[in-house]
Parts: sequence; structure tokens; C-alpha cells
Amino acid sequence: MKKFIPFYYFLFFTIFINAQNLKSPDNNFDLIFTIDENGRPTYSLNFQEEPVILNSGLGFILKDNVEWMKTDTLDMISDFKVVNVSFDTVDETWNPVWGEENEIRNNYNEMFVELEQKESQRKVNIRFRLFDDSLGFRYEFPLQENLGSFIVIDEKTEFAMTGDHKAIWIPGDYDTQEYNYTTSKLTEIKQKSIEFKEENVSMYRFSDWGVQTALMMKSDSGLYINIHEAALIEYSAMHLEFNPSTMTFESHLTPDAYGNMAYMNAPHNTPWRTVIVSDDARDILASRITYNLNEPSKIEDTSWIKPTKYMGVWWEMITGQSTWWYTNDLSSVRINETNYDELEPNDSHAANNKKVMRYIDFAAQHGFDALLVEGWNIGWEDWFNKKKDYVFDFLTPYPDFDIEKLNNYAKEKGISLMMHHETSGAIRNYERHMDEAYSLMNKHGYKSVKSGYVGRIIPAGERHYGQYMVDHYIYAIDKAADYKIMVNAHEAVRPTGVARTYPNHIGNESARGAEFRGSKLNHTTILPFSRLIGGPMDYTPGIFEMDPRKNRPDFTPNLNETLAPGSVTTTLANQLGLYVVIYSPLQMAADLPKNYMRFPDAFQFIKDVALDWDKSVYLEAEPGEYVTIARKEKGADNWFVGNSNGYNKRNAEIDFSFLDNNKKYTATIYRDSKDADYAKNPQSYKIETKTVTSKSKIKIPTVPAGGFAISIFPN
Ligand code: NOJ
Ligand code: CA
Repeated sequence: MKKFIPFYYFLFFTIFINAQNLKSPDNNFDLIFTIDENGRPTYSLNFQEEPVILNSGLGFILKDNVEWMKTDTLDMISDFKVVNVSFDTVDETWNPVWGEENEIRNNYNEMFVELEQKESQRKVNIRFRLFDDSLGFRYEFPLQENLGSFIVIDEKTEFAMTGDHKAIWIPGDYDTQEYNYTTSKLTEIKQKSIEFKEENVSMYRFSDWGVQTALMMKSDSGLYINIHEAALIEYSAMHLEFNPSTMTFESHLTPDAYGNMAYMNAPHNTPWRTVIVSDDARDILASRITYNLNEPSKIEDTSWIKPTKYMGVWWEMITGQSTWWYTNDLSSVRINETNYDELEPNDSHAANNKKVMRYIDFAAQHGFDALLVEGWNIGWEDWFNKKKDYVFDFLTPYPDFDIEKLNNYAKEKGISLMMHHETSGAIRNYERHMDEAYSLMNKHGYKSVKSGYVGRIIPAGERHYGQYMVDHYIYAIDKAADYKIMVNAHEAVRPTGVARTYPNHIGNESARGAEFRGSKLNHTTILPFSRLIGGPMDYTPGIFEMDPRKNRPDFTPNLNETLAPGSVTTTLANQLGLYVVIYSPLQMAADLPKNYMRFPDAFQFIKDVALDWDKSVYLEAEPGEYVTIARKEKGADNWFVGNSNGYNKRNAEIDFSFLDNNKKYTATIYRDSKDADYAKNPQSYKIETKTVTSKSKIKIPTVPAGGFAISIFPN
């Protein structure tokens, strides 16, 4: 490959002292650490001798944590000297409790740089790890005399880009990630941000140049570059802010109500900053740096953590046919005072005994593990953005939800109910009820909880991605582990591989899921390169009826309108492909039972598809255009392939060489028909059965926002 070295590379090329060098185990990556002429620590990164990150500054602006005194800010970006540099190499494998494969290799070279500010004598260390596909580094503040408890006012980590790359991004925001992605040049971020008009019930966009991580980019020379973070613990989430005059991103942390970015108590490490790089997009999906930089499981006995396939009393509320709330008579509720027994039920409350039993029957009949029931507990009548602290108690069912009877009924049928804890962002309220709420789950046999953080955070001024909330999410997962409960958090901070340490954290939303509908046609070809770099997503696929109006019994078609507002913008075959494309040990069949009964042959794939894997093979990938993945079921010889396609009609080419040699398999292909069209004819699919071997090669056509799924069973 021809190496392209841009002009401004030379501008940054000043005289460096104390240059230190680290290479990846395969020698493809080269990291150079220096102290510049102002005493600022800097680093740069090359991949196969091509610059990826130009010389970029490191450091902080801090403040002593003495709030009652006016203290000066402490500059931690200049006047440094290197005190010591040490090296290490690690090559080990570990077995995740669940995952895209059953064994993960953790192989890196490490450089540990100990720094001291000459005049102030304050110390900070930087640990760099180079893997064969990526770089990770973090700051470590050792316990020291003149830096104990302190505040991060600003983290000044830079990522200097080598050119005006193509970037796929969502706007930087302290309170939501549920956005569509924009694809643009780096220098177009501001203009496109201004044009971007999406809204959310909690949002705070801090800058038109701000973007969230994981940020996926592609250089003109064909390098794929992904920036994210790993092990976000006791710190706030990092955004990136682009400066077009220097072509550099700088870290932008999520502040608290005072504008402070993080509170530190030495010894205290920051999360890892990660950069994955390859000239093949598939390597970005295969990288395991995010998990490798997290600590091993804190949970010793993990036998109770089980991948889960579930349905829900849910989609009917999402599409507005039923309600979470029990009555329409109240504009405000007082928990423990409002007497629901005296109120008129509204006839649309979905979490009622009769309906839940019907869903249990259906889920059991089709082999599911669990059923989510939302709206089971009192408080939904005034549930969010009322600045209401005591919004739920997580304990008291509505009068028409018999918690004991329903759990017993579910148990008899081999289903476990999935608990739902919507917090409405009222954190103190959730934490003070948590022990009782988890105990109630244990009492009735609930194994997992879907939690949620809709609306502004209480206490006011805290943000969804600030340190206060990061601490809370970990607290909730850690405590759930004490009760052997698995957690799937919605609206929580984007994951950063922390599920390695807490494998009961089986799911997260933290991006725009299927419930949003109306997503851009290529949305799910981007998620694996962005949101999923940090861990699994509860995307909630499997929507067979794209037009929510058609779920209503009184629906009369309006022939002038082909794509109703609130429609899911994919084909049905694409929805099947998502069970493989969007990795998660927790997968939902999100649509209504009646829609699955209309397409029982397609539903078969959802019933068959595995949740846990021995191996994943990334067959085809281009962010924003297409993703095709093959995965081998854990402990079985079955394979499943999924594809999601973007804006352009395309033929996927599947080379089955991932299969065992000398074996024959039956492949069932669920694909778009020729006339499939996400807007006009989304349910037009074709199912074909073929015998395949490791020598087979098959072309499969896909339409815009289409896709396919294949189940492969040995003969
Ligand atoms: C938002 C979640 O993403 C959604 O799945 C849930 O149904 C509602 N909040 C209510 O908790
Ligand atoms: Ca959500």
C-alpha cells in the first residue's frame, strides 16, 4: 500500500525530547511518546508506517477538592519530565461468560511512563498498551503528598487526525444517545450538527463540534479508525470535540451541576482511551480491546447468568395501542397515598392478568425463556419529566396485575417474567428501594430486570453520562449480582466493556433501538461499528409489521400513504438478520404475537437462532453500507448468518469456508424477494433450503434496508 503522509504532519514535527517507542506484538503499530519543548506529554501512532494519530497532547486541568476555599486551577499539561519507563508483554486467553466467541486472546505490549511535573512535583503515570489491532492508554494518578482528592476541570487528551476523514457520528450530548447517525467529513461536523434537528425528552448538546464515541472514521487512504473508551468506572463519559483548524479531537468529559468533570481520589485511574485501526473494516468488528482492557469477572459463581430470548408486553405500548398506566383519571399520583382500588381502570392498561397470561402462553409455546412486562407497578400516570422524586416504589403492582399468580403461571409454563424498573431518572428514589425491589424479584423468581432512565436526572443538574450516574449504573449492577439478577439498562451510559467485570450486565440500550422507528436505512450497518464496540445492545429486533397503524383492529388503509409515520424502515428479512448482526446475549422478539402468527415460517428463524457463540466470522463489512456475520452456536455444530444492508441494493457473496470440512449442512436462507421494498412491500421475503459444505459459495440479493438470515444445521 502506498503510504500517504499529509502536509501538516511536518508542522507537528517539532523537536522532541525523551522520545519513547512501543510496537505492537506483530510490529504493525508503532507508538511514539515524547515530552515536547513545553514539557507537555504527547503521543503519536502509526499503522504499517502510515500515521494514524499525529503528535497529540495529553494532560489535565485540575483543581484541589477544597470547595469551601477558592483554589487555583492546576495545570497538568506542561513542565513534565519522565521519571521512569518500563515495559511488559502479556499473551493470555480468557473465557467470557457469554460472548461472540468462547475464548478471547489478550495479547499486547505495554509501556508504562511515570511522569513528574518539575516545579510542582505532582505525578501522573500513563500506561500504553498496543495490541495487534489497537491502542489503549490511560492515566494513573498515584497517591502522593500534594495530590489526594482533586477535581478534573478538563481532560486534555488529543487525537490529531491525519486528514479530513469520513466520519459516522451522533452529536455530542450529555443526556441522550438515541440519535440517527450522520455521515460526513470531519470538517462538516459543525454544519451538519446545526442542521440536525432530532430531539429527545432528555438532551443537552454541548457543542456543534461535539460527537460521541465510539466514533467510526475512514481515511482517504482506506484506513478504518475507531475511537472509544474502555472501563468507564468512577469517571464521566468522554465525548470528542473537533477543532477544524488543527484537525484534532480533544476529549470532552460530561460535567456535573457545578461544571466539574470528575472527582478523583488517588490512587485513581481514568478509563482507557482506545483507538482501533485496520485497512479492513471487518477487523474493527473482531477487535476485543474493549473487553481486554476491563478487569476479569468480579462474580465468581456465574452459573446463574444465562443468555435469554424474550418477548414482551411492550410493543403495544411503544406503538401507542395500550398504556403503561392503569387509569386516565389522575394527572398526578402520590405513591402510598393514591388508592388505585378506588379508581376507574382505563381499559388500555396492558399489564393485566388476562393479557399477561396470553403472552406467557405464546412465549412458552414458541420456546422463549422470558417475558418482559412493563407497566406492572403503580406510578405510571405521571411518570417522567415532572421533577418528581418519589415516582415509583418498584414494589406495588397495579390492582389488575397479580404478581404471585402470574409468576406461578409463568413458572409452570417454563417462562420467567422479566422485571421492569423504570426510574424516570430519579436516582435517590431507585437506590433507596433497590434492596427491597431486588428482594421482591427473588421472592417471585424473576431472573432479570430491564431498568430505564427516561427524562432528566434527579438530582437536578446531573447528567446521564456524568460520574454520578456512571457510579449509579455500576452500583445497580453490582447490587443486582448480590441477588443473582441480570441487568439490561436502557438510557444508561454507552457501554465500555464493563460487562466483562460484571457479566450479569447482559444488555444495554444506549443507542437508537428499534422502538424509535423511522431510523435511517443504514442504521443497523453502523451500530456494530459504533455502539456495539462497547458491548451488547438490547436493540429489540424482530418487527414483522412495519406499519404500526396496521396493528389496530380499526385500521383502514390510506392508499396515498405508503410509509406511515412511526413505521419501521426495513424489510422483514433485515429484521431476521439483526439477530446475528447485532450481537447480544439478550435478544427480544419485539413484535406482537399476532404478527408472528401471520408469518410463522419467518418466525421459525427467531425461534432457532442461538444467543451464545463459540466463534464469530465477520464475512463482509463496510460501515454504513453492509454487514454480514456468521456465528457458530456455543457447544453445537449449528451456524447462523445475518446480514443488514444499507441504502443500495446489493448482492452479498457468502463463502461457506467457515464450515467444517467434509460435512454437509442444510442451510435455510431467509432473504428479500426481488420486489421487497422497505416502504411499499417490506414483508416480501423468500425462504430457500440448500445443502451446503465448506466449499459452497452463494450470492444473496438484498434490497435497500434489506438483509437476510441463514440457519445452518449439520445433516
Ligand atoms: C424507554 C425504553 O427504551 C423503553 O423500552 C421503555 O418501554 C420505556 N422507556 C418505558 O420505560
Ligand atoms: Ca430508550
